[in-house]
Formats: sequence, C-alpha cells, structure tokens
Amino acid sequence: MFKNTAHSYGWVSIAMHWITAVLVIGLFILGYWMLTLGYYDSWYRLGPWWHKSFGITLLVLTVIRLLWSLSNQKPEPLGTPWEKRGATVGHALIYGLLFVTLISGYLISTADGRGISVFDWFEVPALITSIPQQEDIAGVIHWYAALTLVIVAAGHALAALRHHIVNRDNTLKRMLRPTPPGQ
Ligand code: HEM
Ligand code: HEM
Repeated sequence: MFKNTAHSYGWVSIAMHWITAVLVIGLFILGYWMLTLGYYDSWYRLGPWWHKSFGITLLVLTVIRLLWSLSNQKPEPLGTPWEKRGATVGHALIYGLLFVTLISGYLISTADGRGISVFDWFEVPALITSIPQQEDIAGVIHWYAALTLVIVAAGHALAALRHHIVNRDNTLKRMLRPTPPGQ
C-alpha cells in the first residue's frame, strides 16, 4: 500500500507526486505575479516570503522523493518501447529541471549573504555567496529553468492523459491510487 510494487506506485510516491505538482504550479504563478508588484504593494515582501518558504519545502520534498524512488521498486512503464523510453527521458528531465530551478532560487535568495527564513520557523543559511553577479545570473537561470519545467510538465500531463484515453492502460490510474494489474 505504502511502497511501490512492480505494477503500481504506493501511497507515499503518489502523495509526493501530487504535492509536487501543486507546489510547482503554485510557485510558478506566484513567482510570475511577484514580478508585477510595486514597492508599496503589501505583497511586495509577503510574496517572496511565501515563494521562498514553499520553495525550500519543495527542495526538501524533492530530495526525499528521489531517495524514496531510488530505494523502492519502479513500476514497469507501460506502452510501446518508444513510449517507455520517452517516459524515462521525460521523468529524468523533470527531476533535472526541478533541481536547477530550486538551486538557482536558493542562489538568488542568498547572494547577499542573508539566509532564507522558512515560514519564520527556521533559517536556511547562505552557503555560497562568491559567484560573480550571482543574483543576476541565478535569476536568469531560474526563470528559464522554471519556464522549461512547466512546459515539459504540461507535455508530461498530456502524455499521461493520452495513456488513459487513447491507450486505455493503467498509467494514470496507478498514480491516483495503488492499482493491481488488470484493474
Ligand atoms: C508540475 C507538475 C508535475 C510534475 C513536476 C510531475 C513530475 C513527475 C515525475 C518526476 C514523475 C516520475 C516519478 C518517478 O517514477 O520517480 C511523474 C510520474 C507521473 N506523472 Fe507527473 N508531474 C506533474 C504533473 C502531472 C499531471 C498533471 C499528471 C496527470 C495528468 C501527471 C501524471 C503522472 C503519471 C501518470 C505518472 C506515472 C508515469 C508512469 O507510471 O510511468 N503528472 N510525474
Ligand atoms: C520549482 C520551484 C520554483 C518555481 C517553479 C519558481 C518560479 C519562479 C518564477 C516564475 C519567478 C519569476 C521569474 C523570475 O524572476 O525568475 C520566480 C522568482 C523568484 N524565485 Fe522562484 N521558483 C521556484 C523555486 C524557488 C526557490 C526554492 C527559491 C528560493 C528559496 C526561489 C526564489 C525566487 C526569488 C528570490 C525570485 C525573485 C527573483 C527576482 O526578483 O528576479 N524560487 N520563481
């Protein structure tokens, strides 16, 4: 039920997948909206505070998720050899883009040597501050990585819907609840 099997994801992977999806979409919309705010807007400071707090939460979740996925069975991909290869490459790309977006966000926020307050509970220290023009370079990387991530994730969602509607296989069902083969 909790762990993955050869045929389905377990509850832990399913929960982490959908929390990730909500956080990525939410962080993208919030980040984009933050750019439109003026200095005297009440959300000028609050927006980045939520963005960075949820961003660090997603960074921790993604590390746990990767460790969980490496220490668990991976359900056998379904479909033609071409679809299976596409899924493997696509998932690796999503993990890669997630880390580039998350780490560049951390590097923007800590470039001035100040740590990141996470929901005012604890502070993540600034560890790297010596890269020349760190804030600007990390800012450009953050934007392009975040944009590519949401585009690739949208293609990924369409691929999942295609499995469900056209191929009529268990790919989407087993990411919604643990599903034995043939159900
Ligand atoms: C920003 C949003 C999303 C991100 C970052 C994301 C990321 C991922 C990743 C990394 C995996 C591979 C999991 C692993 O085996 O370690 C995965 C699997 C999966 N995702 Fe998403 N996903 C997102 C949104 C969605 C949406 C909206 C859908 C459905 C419409 C979806 C359906 C699936 C399915 C069905 C699988 C399992 C594929 C398989 O069994 O081969 N995902 N997702
Ligand atoms: C998948 C996770 C994330 C997504 C999708 C995302 C998305 C975005 C977007 C779309 C923007 C606006 C465009 C830009 O200026 O780059 C932005 C800005 C920003 N993000 Fe993120 N972000 C994520 C994670 C993080 C994390 C983990 C941090 C730091 C802990 C962070 C810190 C920032 C900061 C400081 C800005 C403002 C940059 C500026 O004003 O130039 N982000 N983010």
